[in-house]
Amino acid sequence: GKARLLEGRRVVITSGPTHEPIDPVRYIANRSSGKQGHAIAAAAAAAGADVVLVSGPVSLPDPAGVTVVHVETACQMQEAVDKALPADIAILAAAVADWRVKGAAAQKIKKDGSGRPPVMEFTENPDILAGIGHRGEGRPALVIGFAAETADLLANAKAKLERKGADWILANDVSTPAYGTGIMGGDANEIQILSRDGVEAWPRLDKRQVADRLVARIAAHFEPEDE
Ligand code: PMT
Repeated sequence: GKARLLEGRRVVITSGPTHEPIDPVRYIANRSSGKQGHAIAAAAAAAGADVVLVSGPVSLPDPAGVTVVHVETACQMQEAVDKALPADIAILAAAVADWRVKGAAAQKIKKDGSGRPPVMEFTENPDILAGIGHRGEGRPALVIGFAAETADLLANAKAKLERKGADWILANDVSTPAYGTGIMGGDANEIQILSRDGVEAWPRLDKRQVADRLVARIAAHFEPEDE
């Protein structure tokens, strides 16, 4: 069987998109499938960790051996993550909407016959990673975020490492088309791990291989003598 590399470690993981309502039947979302975050949750559980996966709306089954909390919005995701803490390790793979619609309508928005489309105002969502990264007491020993960028990947990822108080940022380029070969939605990922020690580039791998490799790297971080 697999080495129990994360035996006894508690891990909180976010995955998938969030849906931010416009009215009861419409929402704003993004193209995250949850494949990467769910693969990490499955790999961590297979390595013996106690895993809570907070998932936005995805069409994937719940990974075996993982406690899954299903949420819809960024605010619900933050609340569920807060409840799941404390943890030794936090891995924030969800594509959380940065903004939600201010004052979402209680009833379906109707065409009013004027020919003028509705105007939507946005308000900023809580940043779950920044909240955990900058936590004082109760901060997980290892806080891992992603950076999904379409330009200036490393510069933007480095800025996120600092601004959000993460220990590692897994930078991936999401400028390729979303389905098929795209990193967002597709089966493969190509990441660069940024930490305060530097940058490590991984080849393009199946998302499950990325997950296994990440689990091994996390285990080595906690017990470097076992490397
Ligand atoms: O789901 P898949 O189809 O498998 O695709 C995987 C992925 C591309 C979604 C994944 O690898 C990835 O990059 N996830 C992060 C997506 C994202 O929204 O990144 P970001 O650069 O906007 O955010 C940076 C970090 O802050 C992320 O760890 C994100 O989870 C976190 N964040 C962002 C905003 C917010 N309000 N709260 C957060 O916690």
